[in-house]
Amino acid sequence: MSFYERYCLPHIINFVCGLKDIQDQREKVVPLAKGRVLEVGMGSGLNIPHYNVEKIELVWGLEPSEGMRKKAQANNLKRAPFEVRWLDSPSEEIPLEDNSVDTVVLTYTLCTIPDWQLALQQMRRVLKPGGSLVFCEHGEAPDESVRRWQERINPLWGKIAGGCHLNRPIPRYLEEGGFKINTIDSAYIPGPKIASFEYWGVASQA
Ligand SMILES: C[S@@+](CC[C@H](N)C(=O)[O-])C[C@H]1O[C@@H](n2cnc3c(N)ncnc32)[C@H](O)[C@@H]1O
Repeated sequence: MSFYERYCLPHIINFVCGLKDIQDQREKVVPLAKGRVLEVGMGSGLNIPHYNVEKIELVWGLEPSEGMRKKAQANNLKRAPFEVRWLDSPSEEIPLEDNSVDTVVLTYTLCTIPDWQLALQQMRRVLKPGGSLVFCEHGEAPDESVRRWQERINPLWGKIAGGCHLNRPIPRYLEEGGFKINTIDSAYIPGPKIASFEYWGVASQA
């Protein structure tokens, strides 16, 4: 891991992902989580204030980056009103039992996971029958001109944004990963169009 990824990126991600319009997006899905929750790519813990505390038994915060875990520890985790248990593995290797999670929370992370198919397979494995995956992700834009810019900028973007892809087709990935999408919304949120077309909703095992 480079100096930039270890020491600079956690602060940049925490700042960008903490912007008001993104916080407003979190508020649309995170309060739906309940029971034993797995948050995939917990980052700096920006979702913590958005959980509905009354519905949460505990949260496993899966986050492979030590820099992100430290950033979370220094900020949002200190104020967590429920138990958070760290898992320092990538989502391609979730160290939890089959059928052990009521809700998987996936916000602004599917864009970055290298082997997204394996990761979604793992999320499906740990999710209890009847459990939900709540998601909010940026991804492929509906307008061709924006999509073309997403493709052009993607290689450079990946280098500065920790492996993030601008143009992942989120609904298709979820479905190919074995999930049935129960509710979904999508829209541009304020910001540069290449990075601000978002998909949010709830899915369950297909
Ligand atoms: C843009 S940040 C989003 C963080 C957080 N989910 C949020 O909503 O603020 C993407 C996160 O995915 C994490 N990540 C990268 N590769 C991953 C993987 N293979 N499995 C799980 N998380 C991963 C990164 O370390 C980073 O914390």
